[in-house]
Amino acid sequence: MAENLLIAEGGKEQRYELLYKQVKALVEGEKDTIANMANIAAMIHLTFGFWWTGFYRVVGEELLLGPFQGPLACSRIAYGRGVCGTAWKEQRSVVVEDVEQFPGHIACSSLSRSEIVVPVWCKEEIVAVLDIDSEHIATFDEIDRLWLEKIVGTLYQTGE
Ligand code: SME
Repeated sequence: MAENLLIAEGGKEQRYELLYKQVKALVEGEKDTIANMANIAAMIHLTFGFWWTGFYRVVGEELLLGPFQGPLACSRIAYGRGVCGTAWKEQRSVVVEDVEQFPGHIACSSLSRSEIVVPVWCKEEIVAVLDIDSEHIATFDEIDRLWLEKIVGTLYQTGE
């Protein structure tokens, strides 16, 4: 499936639309969450050419690095720390237009300029976050938030 990734021409809505269809087909054919996280990270990364795309899983009291695409990243993030820990603690997606303006931002890469973090829910609990970094300012907006929430919603069949 993922080796045949199709990337729509046009704006990001069109790209997300086709990406979402392919993600749904992927998770319908594979029940292992880590394998799905790995392919979803790759599919998002290849579709948009972001700087870093990956998952952190909730393991005990912290976030632990999971499947990702891009440069090396910090392995563990504490509850409430950085953009990822904030999204987990506040139980919401966090869009950061300029990481330098976000107090406590954890700079895994000095080239990262904007970021979005979307919680992954399993039933009533956050079990992971999807984190995407861009080397450009203000890459992410409500369109990204909505589509990425739909995309991670497929992991535990909570999506449409
Ligand atoms: N910037 C994140 C840390 C993870 S890396 O960007 C991959 C944060 O502030 O939580």
